[in-house]
Amino acid sequence: MIEPENKRGLWTSKIGFIFAAAGSAIGLGNIWRFPYVTGENGGATFVFIYVFFILIIGLPIMISELTIGRKTRRNPFGAFRMLKPKGYWKLAGGLGVLTGTLILSFYSVIAGFTIGYFFLILSGKFRSIHDVSQSAGIFENFSGNPVNTIGLSVLFILLTGLIVIKGISKGIEKWSKIFMPLLLVLLILLVFRSVTLEGSLKGLEFYLKPDLSKVSVSTFIQALGQALFSLSLGGGGMMTYGSYLSKKDNLVSSAGYIAGFDTLIAILAGLIIFPALFAMGGDPEGGPGLIFVTLPSLIMKMPGGIIFGASIFLLLTLAALTTTISLLEIPVAYLVDEKGWSRKKATVLASLIVFLLATPSALSLGASPWFSNMPFLKIGFMDFIVIVFANYALVTGAFLIAVFVGFSWGIKPALEEIELFGNLFRYKKSWTLLVRYICPLAILSILGYMIFTGNYF
Ligand code: TRP
Repeated sequence: MIEPENKRGLWTSKIGFIFAAAGSAIGLGNIWRFPYVTGENGGATFVFIYVFFILIIGLPIMISELTIGRKTRRNPFGAFRMLKPKGYWKLAGGLGVLTGTLILSFYSVIAGFTIGYFFLILSGKFRSIHDVSQSAGIFENFSGNPVNTIGLSVLFILLTGLIVIKGISKGIEKWSKIFMPLLLVLLILLVFRSVTLEGSLKGLEFYLKPDLSKVSVSTFIQALGQALFSLSLGGGGMMTYGSYLSKKDNLVSSAGYIAGFDTLIAILAGLIIFPALFAMGGDPEGGPGLIFVTLPSLIMKMPGGIIFGASIFLLLTLAALTTTISLLEIPVAYLVDEKGWSRKKATVLASLIVFLLATPSALSLGASPWFSNMPFLKIGFMDFIVIVFANYALVTGAFLIAVFVGFSWGIKPALEEIELFGNLFRYKKSWTLLVRYICPLAILSILGYMIFTGNYF
Protein backbone atom coordinates (compact mmCIF):
# COMPACT_ATOMS: atom_id res chain seq x y z
CA MET A 1 0.00 0.00 0.00
CA ILE A 2 1.48 3.32 -1.06
CA GLU A 3 0.25 6.23 0.96
CA PRO A 4 -0.98 9.12 -1.13
CA GLU A 5 1.20 12.19 -0.72
CA ASN A 6 -1.17 14.47 1.14
CA LYS A 7 -1.16 18.25 1.02
CA ARG A 8 1.38 18.41 3.81
CA GLY A 9 3.91 16.13 2.09
CA LEU A 10 5.72 12.94 3.09
CA TRP A 11 9.31 11.68 3.03
CA THR A 12 9.79 9.49 0.00
CA SER A 13 12.26 7.09 1.61
CA LYS A 14 13.47 6.06 5.02
CA ILE A 15 17.03 7.02 4.18
CA GLY A 16 15.82 10.43 2.99
CA PHE A 17 14.12 10.95 6.34
CA ILE A 18 17.19 9.81 8.25
CA PHE A 19 19.41 12.24 6.34
CA ALA A 20 16.96 15.07 7.00
CA ALA A 21 16.51 14.26 10.69
CA ALA A 22 20.21 13.65 11.26
CA GLY A 23 20.74 16.95 9.44
CA SER A 24 18.46 18.60 11.97
CA ALA A 25 20.26 17.06 14.90
CA ILE A 26 23.78 17.63 13.57
CA GLY A 27 24.37 21.34 13.84
CA LEU A 28 26.38 23.99 15.59
CA GLY A 29 25.57 22.05 18.76
CA ASN A 30 27.76 19.18 17.58
CA ILE A 31 30.59 20.88 15.81
CA TRP A 32 30.92 24.11 17.71
CA ARG A 33 29.64 23.33 21.19
CA PHE A 34 30.23 19.65 21.91
CA PRO A 35 34.03 19.73 21.53
CA TYR A 36 34.65 22.54 24.00
CA VAL A 37 32.10 21.34 26.52
CA THR A 38 33.82 17.95 26.40
CA GLY A 39 37.26 19.52 26.73
CA GLU A 40 36.12 21.47 29.79
CA ASN A 41 34.32 18.59 31.46
CA GLY A 42 36.77 15.77 31.65
CA GLY A 43 37.16 14.46 28.10
CA ALA A 44 36.34 10.80 27.68
CA THR A 45 34.58 10.73 31.05
CA PHE A 46 32.20 13.36 29.71
CA VAL A 47 31.73 11.48 26.44
CA PHE A 48 30.80 8.41 28.44
CA ILE A 49 28.22 10.28 30.54
CA TYR A 50 26.91 11.96 27.41
CA VAL A 51 26.39 8.69 25.55
CA PHE A 52 24.67 7.25 28.63
CA PHE A 53 22.16 10.14 28.62
CA ILE A 54 21.63 9.82 24.87
CA LEU A 55 20.65 6.20 25.46
CA ILE A 56 18.48 6.51 28.53
CA ILE A 57 16.92 9.98 27.99
CA GLY A 58 17.51 11.13 24.41
CA LEU A 59 16.40 7.99 22.61
CA PRO A 60 13.18 7.40 24.58
CA ILE A 61 12.13 11.02 24.09
CA MET A 62 13.02 10.96 20.43
CA ILE A 63 10.88 7.85 19.97
CA SER A 64 8.05 9.67 21.80
CA GLU A 65 8.32 12.78 19.62
CA LEU A 66 8.44 10.81 16.37
CA THR A 67 5.47 8.73 17.50
CA ILE A 68 3.29 11.72 18.40
CA GLY A 69 4.20 13.39 15.10
CA ARG A 70 3.49 10.39 12.94
CA LYS A 71 0.32 9.39 14.78
CA THR A 72 -1.27 12.82 14.34
CA ARG A 73 0.37 13.99 11.10
CA ARG A 74 0.33 17.46 12.61
CA ASN A 75 2.63 20.22 13.83
CA PRO A 76 3.28 20.10 17.60
CA PHE A 77 0.36 22.35 18.54
CA GLY A 78 -2.07 20.46 16.32
CA ALA A 79 -0.66 17.15 17.48
CA PHE A 80 -1.28 17.74 21.19
CA ARG A 81 -4.68 19.20 20.43
CA MET A 82 -5.68 16.23 18.35
CA LEU A 83 -4.68 13.74 21.05
CA LYS A 84 -6.13 15.75 23.98
CA PRO A 85 -8.65 18.24 22.62
CA LYS A 86 -9.74 19.35 26.09
CA GLY A 87 -7.57 20.96 28.73
CA TYR A 88 -4.18 22.59 28.54
CA TRP A 89 -2.04 19.99 26.80
CA LYS A 90 -2.22 21.83 23.49
CA LEU A 91 -0.27 24.62 25.13
CA ALA A 92 2.64 22.20 25.48
CA GLY A 93 2.54 21.85 21.70
CA GLY A 94 2.26 25.61 21.30
CA LEU A 95 5.34 25.97 23.50
CA GLY A 96 7.18 23.65 21.11
CA VAL A 97 6.32 25.80 18.09
CA LEU A 98 7.39 28.92 19.95
CA THR A 99 10.62 27.32 21.17
CA GLY A 100 11.60 26.12 17.71
CA THR A 101 10.94 29.54 16.22
CA LEU A 102 12.96 31.39 18.86
CA ILE A 103 15.85 28.95 18.74
CA LEU A 104 15.96 29.68 15.02
CA SER A 105 16.04 33.42 15.69
CA PHE A 106 19.43 33.36 17.43
CA TYR A 107 20.71 30.29 15.60
CA SER A 108 20.47 32.08 12.26
CA VAL A 109 22.70 34.87 13.59
CA ILE A 110 25.52 32.48 14.55
CA ALA A 111 24.93 30.49 11.38
CA GLY A 112 25.35 33.74 9.45
CA PHE A 113 28.70 34.23 11.21
CA THR A 114 29.93 30.92 9.84
CA ILE A 115 29.33 32.11 6.26
CA GLY A 116 30.97 35.43 7.10
CA TYR A 117 34.03 33.72 8.54
CA PHE A 118 34.27 31.40 5.57
CA PHE A 119 34.79 34.44 3.35
CA LEU A 120 36.87 36.31 5.91
CA ILE A 121 39.36 33.46 6.00
CA LEU A 122 39.43 33.08 2.23
CA SER A 123 40.09 36.82 1.91
CA GLY A 124 43.40 36.30 3.68
CA LYS A 125 42.44 38.60 6.54
CA PHE A 126 44.17 36.38 9.09
CA ARG A 127 47.45 36.28 7.24
CA SER A 128 48.95 39.07 9.31
CA ILE A 129 47.57 37.83 12.60
CA HIS A 130 50.09 36.73 15.20
CA ASP A 131 48.17 36.43 18.41
CA VAL A 132 44.77 35.85 19.89
CA SER A 133 44.18 39.48 20.83
CA GLN A 134 44.39 40.55 17.20
CA SER A 135 41.99 37.85 16.18
CA ALA A 136 39.69 38.83 19.06
CA GLY A 137 39.77 42.36 17.66
CA ILE A 138 38.64 41.12 14.25
CA PHE A 139 35.81 39.21 15.89
CA GLU A 140 34.73 42.29 17.83
CA ASN A 141 34.67 44.42 14.72
CA PHE A 142 32.81 41.74 12.85
CA SER A 143 30.15 41.06 15.46
CA GLY A 144 29.74 44.75 16.26
CA ASN A 145 28.93 45.66 12.68
CA PRO A 146 25.16 45.56 12.13
CA VAL A 147 25.53 45.27 8.36
CA ASN A 148 27.44 42.01 8.85
CA THR A 149 25.33 40.51 11.55
CA ILE A 150 21.90 41.43 10.21
CA GLY A 151 22.88 40.96 6.57
CA LEU A 152 24.33 37.51 7.13
CA SER A 153 21.44 36.28 9.23
CA VAL A 154 19.03 37.49 6.52
CA LEU A 155 21.11 35.62 3.96
CA PHE A 156 20.91 32.49 6.09
CA ILE A 157 17.17 32.76 6.64
CA LEU A 158 16.73 33.31 2.91
CA LEU A 159 18.74 30.21 2.00
CA THR A 160 16.72 28.23 4.53
CA GLY A 161 13.41 29.58 3.23
CA LEU A 162 14.28 28.79 -0.38
CA ILE A 163 14.65 25.12 0.51
CA VAL A 164 11.71 24.88 2.91
CA ILE A 165 9.35 26.53 0.41
CA LYS A 166 9.88 23.61 -1.99
CA GLY A 167 8.29 21.21 0.46
CA ILE A 168 9.19 18.02 2.26
CA SER A 169 10.34 15.65 -0.50
CA LYS A 170 11.30 18.14 -3.21
CA GLY A 171 12.94 20.63 -0.86
CA ILE A 172 14.11 19.36 2.51
CA GLU A 173 14.68 15.72 1.60
CA LYS A 174 16.32 16.48 -1.72
CA TRP A 175 18.79 18.97 -0.24
CA SER A 176 19.51 16.85 2.83
CA LYS A 177 20.55 14.04 0.52
CA ILE A 178 23.07 16.41 -1.05
CA PHE A 179 24.30 18.26 2.02
CA MET A 180 24.70 15.35 4.42
CA PRO A 181 27.07 13.21 2.34
CA LEU A 182 29.04 16.37 1.57
CA LEU A 183 29.26 17.16 5.26
CA LEU A 184 30.42 13.66 6.06
CA VAL A 185 33.18 13.67 3.44
CA LEU A 186 34.39 17.10 4.49
CA LEU A 187 34.39 16.07 8.14
CA ILE A 188 36.43 12.95 7.51
CA LEU A 189 38.97 14.84 5.42
CA LEU A 190 39.35 17.44 8.14
CA VAL A 191 39.75 14.82 10.88
CA PHE A 192 42.41 13.14 8.82
CA ARG A 193 44.28 16.40 8.24
CA SER A 194 44.06 17.37 11.88
CA VAL A 195 45.18 14.14 13.53
CA THR A 196 48.14 13.77 11.15
CA LEU A 197 49.57 17.16 12.11
CA GLU A 198 52.75 17.04 14.09
CA GLY A 199 52.04 17.52 17.78
CA SER A 200 48.37 16.63 17.45
CA LEU A 201 48.60 13.88 20.06
CA LYS A 202 48.52 16.36 22.91
CA GLY A 203 45.21 17.62 21.57
CA LEU A 204 43.76 14.13 21.53
CA GLU A 205 44.94 13.72 25.07
CA PHE A 206 43.29 16.93 26.21
CA TYR A 207 40.08 16.07 24.40
CA LEU A 208 39.66 12.45 25.38
CA LYS A 209 41.81 11.63 28.39
CA PRO A 210 39.44 10.75 31.23
CA ASP A 211 39.81 13.32 33.97
CA LEU A 212 37.59 12.66 36.96
CA SER A 213 38.70 15.82 38.71
CA LYS A 214 36.77 17.88 36.17
CA VAL A 215 33.55 15.98 36.78
CA SER A 216 30.97 17.58 39.09
CA VAL A 217 27.19 17.89 39.32
CA SER A 218 27.33 20.49 36.60
CA THR A 219 28.99 17.96 34.29
CA PHE A 220 25.87 15.81 34.43
CA ILE A 221 23.63 18.79 33.77
CA GLN A 222 25.80 19.83 30.84
CA ALA A 223 25.74 16.34 29.40
CA LEU A 224 21.99 15.95 29.69
CA GLY A 225 21.22 19.44 28.38
CA GLN A 226 23.61 18.98 25.50
CA ALA A 227 22.04 15.60 24.69
CA LEU A 228 18.54 17.10 24.43
CA PHE A 229 19.68 20.13 22.44
CA SER A 230 21.86 18.14 20.12
CA LEU A 231 19.11 15.66 19.27
CA SER A 232 16.71 18.55 18.48
CA LEU A 233 14.35 17.44 21.23
CA GLY A 234 11.95 19.48 23.32
CA GLY A 235 11.45 22.18 20.72
CA GLY A 236 9.06 20.37 18.41
CA GLY A 237 11.73 19.54 15.85
CA MET A 238 11.59 15.76 15.79
CA MET A 239 7.83 15.80 16.27
CA THR A 240 7.41 17.91 13.14
CA TYR A 241 9.75 15.73 11.06
CA GLY A 242 8.00 12.62 12.40
CA SER A 243 4.69 13.95 11.07
CA TYR A 244 5.91 13.34 7.50
CA LEU A 245 6.92 9.72 8.12
CA SER A 246 5.33 6.77 6.41
CA LYS A 247 3.28 4.50 8.67
CA LYS A 248 5.39 1.60 7.53
CA ASP A 249 8.71 2.96 8.70
CA ASN A 250 10.25 1.64 11.86
CA LEU A 251 10.31 4.53 14.34
CA VAL A 252 12.67 2.86 16.80
CA SER A 253 15.40 1.99 14.34
CA SER A 254 15.07 5.46 12.76
CA ALA A 255 15.59 7.06 16.15
CA GLY A 256 18.60 4.81 16.70
CA TYR A 257 20.22 5.86 13.43
CA ILE A 258 19.62 9.56 14.05
CA ALA A 259 21.03 9.45 17.58
CA GLY A 260 23.95 7.31 16.45
CA PHE A 261 24.90 9.65 13.62
CA ASP A 262 24.53 12.69 15.81
CA THR A 263 26.80 11.30 18.52
CA LEU A 264 29.40 10.07 16.07
CA ILE A 265 29.65 13.43 14.33
CA ALA A 266 29.92 15.30 17.62
CA ILE A 267 32.80 13.11 18.75
CA LEU A 268 34.52 13.38 15.37
CA ALA A 269 34.20 17.18 15.41
CA GLY A 270 36.41 17.25 18.48
CA LEU A 271 39.00 15.28 16.54
CA ILE A 272 39.26 18.20 14.14
CA ILE A 273 39.42 21.04 16.61
CA PHE A 274 41.70 19.90 19.42
CA PRO A 275 44.49 18.10 17.56
CA ALA A 276 44.84 21.12 15.25
CA LEU A 277 44.69 23.54 18.14
CA PHE A 278 47.43 21.81 20.10
CA ALA A 279 49.57 21.19 17.04
CA MET A 280 49.62 24.93 16.48
CA GLY A 281 50.22 25.73 20.12
CA GLY A 282 46.80 27.11 21.05
CA ASP A 283 45.07 27.39 24.38
CA PRO A 284 42.23 24.89 24.74
CA GLU A 285 40.29 26.97 27.27
CA GLY A 286 38.83 29.06 24.49
CA GLY A 287 35.21 28.35 25.45
CA PRO A 288 32.68 29.56 22.91
CA GLY A 289 35.32 31.81 21.33
CA LEU A 290 37.32 28.73 20.38
CA ILE A 291 36.05 28.65 16.80
CA PHE A 292 35.77 32.34 16.03
CA VAL A 293 38.79 33.65 17.90
CA THR A 294 41.35 31.01 18.85
CA LEU A 295 41.21 28.94 15.70
CA PRO A 296 41.54 31.81 13.18
CA SER A 297 44.48 33.19 15.13
CA LEU A 298 46.38 29.95 14.56
CA ILE A 299 45.52 28.64 11.14
CA MET A 300 48.25 30.57 9.37
CA LYS A 301 50.85 28.61 11.29
CA MET A 302 49.74 25.58 9.40
CA PRO A 303 50.60 24.72 5.82
CA GLY A 304 47.46 25.20 3.74
CA GLY A 305 45.90 26.99 6.68
CA ILE A 306 43.52 29.04 4.57
CA ILE A 307 42.01 25.92 3.05
CA PHE A 308 41.84 24.16 6.40
CA GLY A 309 40.22 27.15 8.11
CA ALA A 310 37.77 27.85 5.30
CA SER A 311 36.78 24.17 5.19
CA ILE A 312 35.96 24.19 8.89
CA PHE A 313 33.62 27.13 8.37
CA LEU A 314 32.10 25.49 5.31
CA LEU A 315 31.47 22.42 7.46
CA LEU A 316 29.82 24.59 10.11
CA THR A 317 27.69 26.34 7.47
CA LEU A 318 26.47 23.04 6.02
CA ALA A 319 25.70 21.63 9.44
CA ALA A 320 23.86 24.80 10.45
CA LEU A 321 21.82 24.94 7.25
CA THR A 322 20.30 21.49 7.59
CA THR A 323 19.42 22.48 11.17
CA THR A 324 17.83 25.84 10.34
CA ILE A 325 15.76 24.08 7.67
CA SER A 326 14.26 21.83 10.34
CA LEU A 327 13.73 24.74 12.69
CA LEU A 328 11.89 26.82 10.09
CA GLU A 329 9.74 23.82 9.22
CA ILE A 330 8.22 23.93 12.74
CA PRO A 331 6.34 27.26 12.37
CA VAL A 332 5.72 26.54 8.68
CA ALA A 333 3.98 23.25 9.53
CA TYR A 334 1.99 25.09 12.19
CA LEU A 335 0.77 27.73 9.72
CA VAL A 336 -0.02 25.15 7.03
CA ASP A 337 -1.95 22.83 9.40
CA GLU A 338 -3.65 25.31 11.66
CA LYS A 339 -4.32 28.24 9.36
CA GLY A 340 -4.75 26.23 6.18
CA TRP A 341 -2.18 28.38 4.39
CA SER A 342 -0.24 27.31 1.35
CA ARG A 343 3.34 26.27 2.05
CA LYS A 344 4.51 29.26 0.05
CA LYS A 345 2.61 31.81 2.09
CA ALA A 346 3.52 30.06 5.36
CA THR A 347 7.23 29.99 4.52
CA VAL A 348 7.33 33.66 3.55
CA LEU A 349 5.55 34.75 6.71
CA ALA A 350 7.50 32.45 9.04
CA SER A 351 10.79 33.66 7.54
CA LEU A 352 9.75 37.26 8.04
CA ILE A 353 8.85 36.65 11.68
CA VAL A 354 12.15 34.89 12.26
CA PHE A 355 13.97 37.78 10.67
CA LEU A 356 12.24 40.26 12.97
CA LEU A 357 13.09 38.16 16.01
CA ALA A 358 16.67 37.65 14.84
CA THR A 359 17.40 41.35 14.43
CA PRO A 360 17.69 42.24 18.12
CA SER A 361 19.91 39.17 18.61
CA ALA A 362 22.06 40.27 15.69
CA LEU A 363 22.42 43.69 17.28
CA SER A 364 23.23 42.32 20.71
CA LEU A 365 26.86 41.41 20.06
CA GLY A 366 28.18 44.92 20.21
CA ALA A 367 26.29 46.74 17.45
CA SER A 368 23.67 48.18 19.78
CA PRO A 369 24.74 49.00 23.34
CA TRP A 370 21.13 48.69 24.51
CA PHE A 371 20.56 45.20 23.12
CA SER A 372 24.10 44.15 24.04
CA ASN A 373 23.53 44.87 27.71
CA MET A 374 19.87 45.22 28.46
CA PRO A 375 18.62 47.20 31.45
CA PHE A 376 17.59 45.05 34.46
CA LEU A 377 18.66 41.81 32.82
CA LYS A 378 22.29 42.89 32.50
CA ILE A 379 22.86 40.52 29.64
CA GLY A 380 22.57 40.78 25.88
CA PHE A 381 19.36 40.02 24.03
CA MET A 382 20.79 36.90 22.39
CA ASP A 383 21.95 35.47 25.71
CA PHE A 384 18.50 36.15 27.10
CA ILE A 385 16.80 34.24 24.27
CA VAL A 386 19.30 31.40 24.63
CA ILE A 387 18.57 31.09 28.34
CA VAL A 388 14.79 31.32 28.05
CA PHE A 389 14.29 29.16 24.96
CA ALA A 390 17.32 26.94 24.36
CA ASN A 391 17.49 26.17 28.10
CA TYR A 392 14.24 26.62 30.05
CA ALA A 393 11.65 26.17 27.30
CA LEU A 394 13.50 23.31 25.63
CA VAL A 395 13.94 21.38 28.85
CA THR A 396 10.34 22.08 29.90
CA GLY A 397 9.16 20.88 26.50
CA ALA A 398 11.08 17.63 26.80
CA PHE A 399 9.66 17.10 30.30
CA LEU A 400 6.09 17.68 29.12
CA ILE A 401 6.51 15.27 26.20
CA ALA A 402 7.68 12.50 28.51
CA VAL A 403 4.81 13.07 30.95
CA PHE A 404 2.29 13.35 28.12
CA VAL A 405 3.27 10.04 26.59
CA GLY A 406 3.85 8.32 29.91
CA PHE A 407 0.63 9.31 31.66
CA SER A 408 -1.80 11.35 29.59
CA TRP A 409 -2.08 10.28 25.98
CA GLY A 410 -0.68 6.95 27.03
CA ILE A 411 1.86 4.25 26.60
CA LYS A 412 -0.64 1.90 25.00
CA PRO A 413 -1.72 4.02 22.01
CA ALA A 414 1.90 5.08 21.53
CA LEU A 415 3.01 1.45 21.37
CA GLU A 416 0.23 0.71 18.88
CA GLU A 417 1.58 3.44 16.60
CA ILE A 418 5.16 2.25 17.02
CA GLU A 419 4.26 -1.35 16.22
CA LEU A 420 2.18 -0.66 13.10
CA PHE A 421 2.89 -2.93 10.15
CA GLY A 422 4.45 -5.56 12.37
CA ASN A 423 7.35 -3.40 13.51
CA LEU A 424 7.99 -5.19 16.78
CA PHE A 425 9.41 -2.98 19.56
CA ARG A 426 11.70 -5.28 21.50
CA TYR A 427 12.45 -2.90 24.33
CA LYS A 428 8.97 -1.66 25.10
CA LYS A 429 9.19 -2.50 28.81
CA SER A 430 12.39 -0.51 29.25
CA TRP A 431 11.07 2.32 27.11
CA THR A 432 7.92 2.52 29.25
CA LEU A 433 9.94 2.67 32.43
CA LEU A 434 12.27 5.32 31.00
CA VAL A 435 9.56 7.56 29.56
CA ARG A 436 7.37 7.37 32.65
CA TYR A 437 9.85 7.75 35.44
CA ILE A 438 13.50 8.14 34.52
CA CYS A 439 13.13 10.84 31.85
CA PRO A 440 10.80 13.15 33.80
CA LEU A 441 12.91 12.82 36.95
CA ALA A 442 16.21 13.40 35.20
CA ILE A 443 14.86 16.36 33.25
CA LEU A 444 13.23 17.83 36.33
CA SER A 445 16.59 17.76 38.04
CA ILE A 446 18.15 19.87 35.28
CA LEU A 447 15.30 22.34 35.62
CA GLY A 448 15.75 22.49 39.37
CA TYR A 449 19.48 22.93 39.01
CA MET A 450 19.03 25.80 36.56
CA ILE A 451 16.51 27.56 38.75
CA PHE A 452 18.46 27.20 41.98
CA THR A 453 21.97 27.86 40.74
CA GLY A 454 21.32 30.20 37.83
CA ASN A 455 23.72 28.10 35.76
CA TYR A 456 22.74 26.88 32.35
CA PHE A 457 24.02 24.25 30.03
N1 TRP B 1 20.16 20.03 17.31
C1 TRP B 1 20.55 21.31 16.83
C2 TRP B 1 22.07 21.45 16.96
O1 TRP B 1 22.71 20.65 17.58
C3 TRP B 1 19.84 22.47 17.46
C4 TRP B 1 18.43 22.31 17.94
C5 TRP B 1 18.01 22.37 19.20
C6 TRP B 1 17.24 22.06 17.23
N2 TRP B 1 16.69 22.21 19.33
C7 TRP B 1 16.17 22.02 18.13
C8 TRP B 1 17.00 21.87 15.91
C9 TRP B 1 14.88 21.76 17.73
C10 TRP B 1 15.68 21.62 15.50
C11 TRP B 1 14.64 21.57 16.40
O2 TRP B 1 22.66 22.36 16.46
